[in-house]
Amino acid sequence: MTRVQPVVAIYPGSFDPITKGHEDVARRSLAIADRVVVAVAQTASQTKGSLFGVEERLAMVQEVFQGEDRIEACQFGGLLVDLAQELKARFVIRGLRAVSDFEYEFQMAQMNRELWSGAETVFLTPDQKYSFLSASLVREISRLGGDVSQFVSEPVLRRLRRPTEGESPSRSEPDTTKF
Ligand code: PNS
Repeated sequence: MTRVQPVVAIYPGSFDPITKGHEDVARRSLAIADRVVVAVAQTASQTKGSLFGVEERLAMVQEVFQGEDRIEACQFGGLLVDLAQELKARFVIRGLRAVSDFEYEFQMAQMNRELWSGAETVFLTPDQKYSFLSASLVREISRLGGDVSQFVSEPVLRRLRRPTEGESPSRSEPDTTKF
């Protein structure tokens, strides 16, 4: 009897930090895969303004999906296609929020296909309420003392609220110096 292989999807990203938009995309991808591996890149592509190290980004992903058996997490440091091959992934999942995401995503998808054609890149759109959400905005709002509780889950929120050693309070008074 032939054993049916589970369909594996890989959902790569920087996840600095994972937002509710990312969570939504990961859960949606279960519609086309039996297992989804959220793959946290050790070196984020847009390192400028990065906040969390890879271990912490991975820990947040693991905590967010705790108890969801079909969603796993790992970190990776090499090429995405090498990991996809290793995991025998059928799909690479990427979230698309707006047209502005498209050029970068299209380029990556085509390049990944040149490198290894064994997986198809599938673009999923998050719920409309997350279409404006990005990890970089979450980082900025949080750094400036804004409330991001509707955009990230508790394991992320807890870490964002943790005071950084030597850092001045983020919710500072407006600078009203009079001349
Ligand atoms: O969340 P991001 O920063 O948009 O994710 C980008 C990521 C990590 C998916 C991309 O940079 C990536 O795949 N990096 C791994 C290295 C690699 O394979 N580079 C070639 C991509 S065509």
